Amino acid sequence: MIVKSMTLRPIDQGITGEITVPGDKSISHRSVIFASLASGTSTITNFLAGEDCLRTINVFRSLGVNIDQDGTKVSIKSDGVGRLKEAECPVYFGNSGTTARLVTGVLASLPLFTTCYGDPSLSNRPMDRVITPLSKMGANIQGRDNNRLLPIAISGKTLKGITYEMPVKSAQVKSAILLAGMLGEGETTVIEQVKTRDHTEQMLPRFGVGVEVEGLKITIKGGQRPHSADIAVPGDISSAAFFLVAAAVIPGSHITVKDVGLNETRTGIITALEKMGANIQTTVTRTIGSEPVGDIEVKYAPLKGSIMEGDLIPALIDELPILALAATQAEGKTIIKDAEELRVKETDRIAAVADVLTKLGADVTEQPDGLIIHGKSVLRSAEVDSYMDHRIGMMVAIASLLAEGNIQLTNSECIAISYPDFFKDLEYIIKK
Ligand code: S3P
Repeated sequence: MIVKSMTLRPIDQGITGEITVPGDKSISHRSVIFASLASGTSTITNFLAGEDCLRTINVFRSLGVNIDQDGTKVSIKSDGVGRLKEAECPVYFGNSGTTARLVTGVLASLPLFTTCYGDPSLSNRPMDRVITPLSKMGANIQGRDNNRLLPIAISGKTLKGITYEMPVKSAQVKSAILLAGMLGEGETTVIEQVKTRDHTEQMLPRFGVGVEVEGLKITIKGGQRPHSADIAVPGDISSAAFFLVAAAVIPGSHITVKDVGLNETRTGIITALEKMGANIQTTVTRTIGSEPVGDIEVKYAPLKGSIMEGDLIPALIDELPILALAATQAEGKTIIKDAEELRVKETDRIAAVADVLTKLGADVTEQPDGLIIHGKSVLRSAEVDSYMDHRIGMMVAIASLLAEGNIQLTNSECIAISYPDFFKDLEYIIKK
């Protein structure tokens, strides 16, 4: 096998200017799923045309939904959930955990037989976290390794509502159960330990589906069928985070990331950087549906170490790799804890971040549920791997801007999973 490698070079001044980032990954997935279950035509604009979200489109195409995708514009014409047809071939989830978990919730509830598989990374990520609660609702799902892993076979049927206390902090699991509850009979209640991203609860009402939220308790009535809706997807704060951190740690920087989703279950990266002393200004410019959207301005300021734990963690779960890089540039100790979920992401992100940052010269210690980072470190030249994980790859690209010499990154192509134009946008903000 040929492993592709790219050379990343440091820059000798701060980054400045305005930038926009592609559409939110979580909202793009949900738009396609909800619109495919709705009767009528829905239009999605600023859709994230990254590999993960394209997998979700392909899944629903194989279930007979008419989906026309032209770049960031997607038109979905569906006859509704009752008219979905059995997929003729096994459906492929690729690298996408969100597709795998949410689609399993849908398929378990419909009178269809489906087999599903993923790429090598997804095939080792837990599916029992959705299979267990769905089975309590009556689902018939068989999977590899004692119903723990993909591939799975689903013999869908009408499910019954449950009350489920979530043992994991996962918006994907919450959403899978809510979707199954919506399509099934009776009432379904999910109780979270800590609030995770709430796009499902916020978006379903826009498709005409009632959801009741009472603190950490979310209830949905069965037998509801969504109607079509048009969705404008805001910029993804998880993609913006790479530029926010770059500006926060590179002296002389001053940037504004425009039109980013600022749902409070997603803005933990702003809270975390502010705790570290970053100079950040957030302005809400509008709302899309019920979600605030706005601009984030960052000016370089020296950072100091801090503790990241508890309720903050789910609000920045995908940003922890890039936050760890920020911590290498902060004076003193940063502790990241309560983040054991990172072990079951696209790769074991605790191990991957520790390995990559250590190779780059940082002082990072792995903990069972997080990392301890002592700053401030001068980052050096090294050859590192993305672990085929988009967010590790982009973290390395930002690290290279402040390193002493060139960094060699292998397997960078995985960045297309969530941000196909990342290097183009990075180049743009560097050259401004
Ligand atoms: C997501 C939830 C999170 C997140 C993932 C997207 C979603 O995963 O890491 O990138 O869209 O619901 P978990 O539910 O596994 O925490």
